[in-house]
Amino acid sequence: MKQRVLSGMRPSGKLHLGHLHGVLDNWKKLQEAYDSFFFVADWHALTTNYETPYTIPQNISEMVLDWLAVGIDPEKATIFVQSDLKTHAELHLLLSMITPVSWLERNPTYKEQQEQLKEKDLATYGFLGYPVLQAADIIMYKANKVPVGVDQLPHVELTREITRRFNYLYGEVFPVPDALLTEVPKLPGLDGRKMSKSYGNSIFLSDSPDAIRAKLKTMVTDTERPMKNDPGDPEKRCVAFNLHKLYLPKSRCEEIVTDCKAAKLGCVACKKELAEAIVSFLAPVHERRKAFAKKASLVINVLQEGARRAMTVSEKTMSDVREALWSQHVR
Ligand code: TRP
Repeated sequence: MKQRVLSGMRPSGKLHLGHLHGVLDNWKKLQEAYDSFFFVADWHALTTNYETPYTIPQNISEMVLDWLAVGIDPEKATIFVQSDLKTHAELHLLLSMITPVSWLERNPTYKEQQEQLKEKDLATYGFLGYPVLQAADIIMYKANKVPVGVDQLPHVELTREITRRFNYLYGEVFPVPDALLTEVPKLPGLDGRKMSKSYGNSIFLSDSPDAIRAKLKTMVTDTERPMKNDPGDPEKRCVAFNLHKLYLPKSRCEEIVTDCKAAKLGCVACKKELAEAIVSFLAPVHERRKAFAKKASLVINVLQEGARRAMTVSEKTMSDVREALWSQHVR
């Protein structure tokens, strides 16, 4: 039997190159080898966006279109939306009974996010319980592996602790899942900070060729090379060169290094070349996205079928859970 992987993404709307290389490339590989479940964590989005819930549904369909356009395949993976599976709410509730508040207060992302999103009041019960909901998502499908980036490791660790506690109290219902740490290539945004929608420095998968060209013109290069006649050092100092390494052949990158160091190649031309490489890289993604977006019912059908498949598994798990809980006798 194939091992099972499960991972989720909050519906943040259109995805950018960081999501593609940081997450989706990995999901594409995993769907070939594992029984894969990939879902939209819309209730998790609500923990921080509860004041604007109306933004979430639109974001879901945009994001799922991007998944399909890059090659996440509904024939290979089960793709669904969290809130279509009410069982996640039931399991979340039951897990909340056995999760010590101190474990949640200790969770590093709890404090960090509150600091980062100062404009929002995140002193809520739901936000504190974010990792409990995530634990429910994961063990609902008895997943063996959870592909995540480093930022999510504390949540997987908490999932493991909650799982052990459940099994200890009520019997061995769940396998303890392992994190599958995703190696992420360095992909800075236009300004040199990590590519992130909230920094406004992203290249989106759905950006038009002209938008990509315009954005690349503004990208930071080697700040210690103010003039074309100054020699640069792309490997040490150039922000844009991280992208050259992803989208241009290795041999061409080597030439660029030589020419930049010799002050023969200017940043404007060099970024133009990069823009064209990204445009051609994204061309097939755009074509698929356009074709999929035309079929109005496509995303709806994929998510309905995914929910149906997920429901079968999650109903079975919940009956195991209820059995373990309620068939206990006085010891
Ligand atoms: N918290 C995850 C994130 O922000 C999203 C998520 C929710 C998730 N449930 C999950 C990831 C279960 C993996 C497994 O990226």
